[in-house]
Amino acid sequence: MTQPGYDALADLYAETFPDPYAFPIERHAAAAFAEAAAGRPGRTVDVGCGLGHVAADLAGRGLDVLGVDPSPAMLGHARRLHPELPFVDGDASLAALPDGPIAAILARFSLIHVEPAAVRAAVRDWSGRVGAGTPVLVAFQAADEPGPPLAFDHVVAPAWRWHPDEFARLLAEAGFTESWRIVHREKDYRFPMAHLLAVRG
Ligand SMILES: C[S@@+](CC[C@H](N)C(=O)[O-])C[C@H]1O[C@@H](n2cnc3c(N)ncnc32)[C@H](O)[C@@H]1O
Repeated sequence: MTQPGYDALADLYAETFPDPYAFPIERHAAAAFAEAAAGRPGRTVDVGCGLGHVAADLAGRGLDVLGVDPSPAMLGHARRLHPELPFVDGDASLAALPDGPIAAILARFSLIHVEPAAVRAAVRDWSGRVGAGTPVLVAFQAADEPGPPLAFDHVVAPAWRWHPDEFARLLAEAGFTESWRIVHREKDYRFPMAHLLAVRG
């Protein structure tokens, strides 16, 4: 596949973001997700894994992780930085994934780059691929006001930000029940950021 924005800027992205998390709360959210996924059979899929740093953190927490991303350049960095982990060329639909059980799904700041109608379709696909009790963690730039997703001027690729209630509703429509959410506001950031964990019923 290709992802023109990330393919063009992958080297700069790798230099700019050498760490998996920009803020401690993100690490805590990932740790709570890893606890929710622990012991479940199958692979934990990191959708839009980018450089693979978060996949590596989750692997370090004991999960069997598979990263998937549509940008060959980002995947190139992920494979170089984390040669011990498997990475697959694919998108949020998970169509490129090998067969086999899925223990959990993480999508951090990747679904923002998927057109809202396609996000709905992708999450419905996830629902069909996973069993009851499967945790899903999504993270995204958030909107303050309830309503449809808002396009915003992300520097790398077209992007939409969601009100957390709207994303929770989309997940619920696909059979995932919200378990918790964290919304945090960081100094010098334009938008709040949301992490939302939901579980397949
Ligand atoms: C901001 S980076 C986040 C990377 C990683 N998830 C993290 O938390 O550090 C966004 C990633 O989403 C990927 N992406 C873009 N469009 C996508 C799509 N349609 N499906 C899945 N991932 C996508 C990009 O290639 C990029 O690697």
